[in-house]
Amino acid sequence: MNKLAEQVTSQERKQNKENYLYLLEKGKGLVNLFYATIRTAALYEPNNDAFRKQIGPLMQAVREIIEHEGELSFSSKEGYLFLNQARLRLDFENYVASRFILEFTQKLQIYKLTLESGISQAELQDLICILAHIDPNEKEPFEVIEKKIFEQNLGHIRLEKEREHPVPEAELTSLDQRRTAKKTFYRAISVVREFSQRTQSGKGMNLVKVKRLVQSLVDQILQNEEIFLELSALKNYDEYTYLHSTNVCILSLLLGLRLGLSKRELCELGLAALFHDIGKVKLPLELLNKPSEFDESEWAKMRKHPVMGVKNLLASLKLDPFSIRAMLVSFEHHLNLNLSGYPKLKEKRDLNLFSRIVSIVDTYDAMTSGRVYLKTPFPPDEALRKMFYVREKVYDPSLLKLFINLLGVYPVGSLVLLNDGQIGLVTKNNPDNPSSPKVKLIADQEGTKEVPEILDLSQDSSSSAEPGASRSILRCIDPQKYNLDLSQFIL
Ligand SMILES: [Fe+2]
Ligand SMILES: [Fe+2]
Repeated sequence: MNKLAEQVTSQERKQNKENYLYLLEKGKGLVNLFYATIRTAALYEPNNDAFRKQIGPLMQAVREIIEHEGELSFSSKEGYLFLNQARLRLDFENYVASRFILEFTQKLQIYKLTLESGISQAELQDLICILAHIDPNEKEPFEVIEKKIFEQNLGHIRLEKEREHPVPEAELTSLDQRRTAKKTFYRAISVVREFSQRTQSGKGMNLVKVKRLVQSLVDQILQNEEIFLELSALKNYDEYTYLHSTNVCILSLLLGLRLGLSKRELCELGLAALFHDIGKVKLPLELLNKPSEFDESEWAKMRKHPVMGVKNLLASLKLDPFSIRAMLVSFEHHLNLNLSGYPKLKEKRDLNLFSRIVSIVDTYDAMTSGRVYLKTPFPPDEALRKMFYVREKVYDPSLLKLFINLLGVYPVGSLVLLNDGQIGLVTKNNPDNPSSPKVKLIADQEGTKEVPEILDLSQDSSSSAEPGASRSILRCIDPQKYNLDLSQFIL
């Protein structure tokens, strides 16, 4: 390559990098504005003040990017949101908004939405109104939007439909991400173990290590929720209490993310969740691992752990917002919304948000593990159903709904029986069609498969059970009954 060509290429590279950084920076604000304007348009008429306050800044942001880039497009690929050619990074300030746009465009079958140079505020406003009022359950939502754009003569807006055969998603997640996730998962277990052992022997503990761990859990969960959902489905581990605490931490963080908590709040939540059962460290192991039901005196001991937790945390930690939150969660996580749980209180009290989150996640993990309170585990779908029946009294109903939504009808990690007799492990929830998740087929009538096959039930059209019909889930089954060790398929 001659010198001039080299110079041009390096200049081009520099320019591309600058553009990329520019889009990343601008993307954050744009995503939030776009989200807020669509949500406002769904509630108010276009001439309402609230709407006008949103559309102005959105138009300004759009105009600025178009001036810089020539045009502006949102597109989605393999679960990531792109602004022009830049893949937007999810972070705390735009997590809820980015997820909303991704899921929203997916539902409407929009692969790419482009705003061209010359677009007017009136055009942008009309587009937002169309998007805000479209019924996603419409048979062909993309065609309806396209028709409206044409009829309203919105000439600077271009839509592209999702390709019929999307690229098979992350074959699947890169091995590297999986490896790092697993490492962090086991690090969490060992941190809980270390903290428990130090507390047991009356030694203090520095929270820096724990905070660093929670922070990296948060960062990695942001990049790939599915791996962590899968890992949190692990139940058979010798040191149950430590695994349980780690699972409760992960699921609480996933729920916290859906609520739009900030990074700092997520770290506080994660830490509190990790230590919610720290009051159990001084209970005898024979009691915690007792294979049969507890008698009344054993129950009385178990019911002391929320208060013991506060005492343990007070003894081992300095007072700061993190340790105070952790104490609150330890004290409140078995109280229930109507205070029918334990410890018994004389006065009314509203439970802290973090305690309400941990209480839901804790019960779910305990019910599906079947170790301490219940000796036989419930399949995940049945556990959620049981929790749903008592939602008004025991749990915060809106949080529970959000949690069910996060896990899906057949939560990741459920073992399911298909109508063709095969057995699969649910690996990914499908929010558009919750009864048709993605499954890893691990066994059939002949026995366990050497190489598990991945099947997306929402895309399936073949069936060995009934030619021409699609395969579907008959019901959840209990892994123990079939002598299956799920950890070999999850890990
Ligand atoms: Fe507990
Ligand atoms: Fe617990």
